[in-house]
Amino acid sequence: MNKRAVTLVALIVVLAIVMAACRPAAPKTLKVAILAPLSGDVATFGVSTRDGALLAIDEWNAKGGLLGRKIEAVVEDSQCEAEPAASAANKVINQDQVKFIIGEVCSKASIPISEIVDATGGKVLQISPTSTNPKVTIREDGTAKPTVFRACFIDPFQGTVAAKFALDKLGAKTAAVLLDQGNDYVRGLAEFFRDAFEAGGGKVVVWETYTAGDKDFSAILTKVKDANPDVLFLPDYYSTVNLIAAQANQMGIKAVKMGGDGWDSPELDRQATAGGFFTNHYSPEDTRPVVQDFVKRYQAKYGSVPDALAALAYDAANILFQAIQQAGTDDALKVAQTMEKGKFSVVSGDITFDNQHNPQKCAVILEVSPEKVSYKDTVCP
Ligand code: PHE
Repeated sequence: MNKRAVTLVALIVVLAIVMAACRPAAPKTLKVAILAPLSGDVATFGVSTRDGALLAIDEWNAKGGLLGRKIEAVVEDSQCEAEPAASAANKVINQDQVKFIIGEVCSKASIPISEIVDATGGKVLQISPTSTNPKVTIREDGTAKPTVFRACFIDPFQGTVAAKFALDKLGAKTAAVLLDQGNDYVRGLAEFFRDAFEAGGGKVVVWETYTAGDKDFSAILTKVKDANPDVLFLPDYYSTVNLIAAQANQMGIKAVKMGGDGWDSPELDRQATAGGFFTNHYSPEDTRPVVQDFVKRYQAKYGSVPDALAALAYDAANILFQAIQQAGTDDALKVAQTMEKGKFSVVSGDITFDNQHNPQKCAVILEVSPEKVSYKDTVCP
């Protein structure tokens, strides 16, 4: 080789090295954020959600990951509140460059996250495992946010299932409803229950509001006591339900207590809510093999029976990963388009999405006794 050729080759080699160094390295992992309340009043929601999603991530990684990459979880405590949830979403999107968010649990937190996700114009996809308020997936004008989905049914359905159960199975004619106006989930579920209960011929004889953080409910419970309704509907989370139920019992209120998925917690006060019923997404007593296999694997890893939050976080993660795999890309908009058309067979049922990105699926009704929460009924749309 002559001198000129050697110089040329050396130059090409140097150039190649410089170009390789300047090119952004392909990301080594596929990051997925899990946003859930890990502290505060409803911490059991967050712990179950995180653990359910992590089980799915471990299982996919054991099979080789996704798109040739390992899945990496970025977990943030979004506290089931609007402000911390918005900061957590901004952090994972801007700092961690995450394109996929599993979360939040609470509608009040998922709605602000969904607005941030929507404002990225398709760069980020959110799937909430358990937020049931309709506003999570739809814009003010009623159209679907293109990259926002959920793995659960919505509250118009849940409220109707509860109202029908009260009317048909309990033979209730009157109901009292107590609600926190400032919580999208609680207010929504209260309204959907009332509308369905009255449409079915029942009458809501007490409709009283309280504020998050209230500890003394005696003033509004006095109105319930005076009205003596058949059902006392408490559409809040377990921590608040525990307080109201105990005080209602102390005052001698005899109404059957009912509520929604927010009751689902190992910390629900079963003594105080005994004899009551709540609607939920899944029951670990379901004998279908897909449910029992999941319960076994979850129990082996964490030593506890998975609640609905764990099951739905596991489902949300699997729906997401299956859509990413089918789309063959981590482009959030393309994954969303695949998700819209997909069929997913997951623990809480076989799912397809409607045009508002809500899955069509059944609800279960659970009964509370001092010893345990047991499966009562399944209601499908
Ligand atoms: N559905 C509730 C909400 O939207 C959250 C929740 C789901 C809580 C399931 C408990 C169990 O805020």
